[in-house]
Amino acid sequence: MIVIGGTSSRSLAQDLAQELDAKFVKANVVRFPDGECYVRIEEEELDDDVIVVQNTHPDHNLVEALLLQDAAAGLGAMKIITVVPYFGYARQDQRFKKGEALSAKVMVKTLGICSDHLVTVDVHKPIILDWFKGKTDDVHAAPCVGEFFNGHGIDLVLAPDEGALQRAMEVAKVIGADVDYLEKTRLSGEVVRMAPKNVDAKDKNALIVDDIISTGGTIEAAANQLKIFGAKSVTAVCTHGLFTKNALDRLRKCCNAVYSTNTIENEVSVISVAPQIASVLSGQL
Ligand code: R5P
Repeated sequence: MIVIGGTSSRSLAQDLAQELDAKFVKANVVRFPDGECYVRIEEEELDDDVIVVQNTHPDHNLVEALLLQDAAAGLGAMKIITVVPYFGYARQDQRFKKGEALSAKVMVKTLGICSDHLVTVDVHKPIILDWFKGKTDDVHAAPCVGEFFNGHGIDLVLAPDEGALQRAMEVAKVIGADVDYLEKTRLSGEVVRMAPKNVDAKDKNALIVDDIISTGGTIEAAANQLKIFGAKSVTAVCTHGLFTKNALDRLRKCCNAVYSTNTIENEVSVISVAPQIASVLSGQL
């Protein structure tokens, strides 16, 4: 078993190789002056199953992922398993308006050109993986998130909307905390409102759990609501920390702490999802 780390996910790939007791290979990736990507795996051959770990967001990372798959195939990889920690375009899983591209389908199918098995982490809508021609797994980050917060004194785990409740329940189960959810309405790209709904947060240390933090609008609205309910402290955690614009600064004003997993490497990505990816993969290899 060989793990190849693309530029978006090198430390996660190294963690994964360690968890799987596999060889880690750092691909040589450079950009030509015109921006095109050049990929080389400096090995004589890859006579084994190969795991390529690389995000597909932003767009240039997708190109790198495809080139890494092809480089591995060119060196004789037996099976190519593509681990996409943060799968971009998963939110465009339908043609919401006539004439739109079905982006999620395009991305899933493209990744299948040179890969036998696609692994994602908390992909926004797991149903999109049905467009992949081979085997797929969507790994849940919740066990790793729950482990991280064990012993942190969290009393209440909160989902910012009902759709995120299952994830919050998985985290709460590991921590042994209560769980509840808010009712979210998105007013615009960055502005979110929480509908009046009673949550027993008085004097509690609350943890808000979401899959993605992008602008931070969702977490900001949830944190403000928890303060109104009398929460003692509010911590936010997400799987995928995109933190667009100044989201982290914005969230540090309304939360006591903000964390993410390492599906996207950033200054708060302190929770590794490698153990969970490894446990899903090792059950099948
Ligand atoms: C939405 O369905 C997702 O689960 C997240 O809540 C959303 O992407 C967060 O975006 P933002 O940080 O911009 O509010």
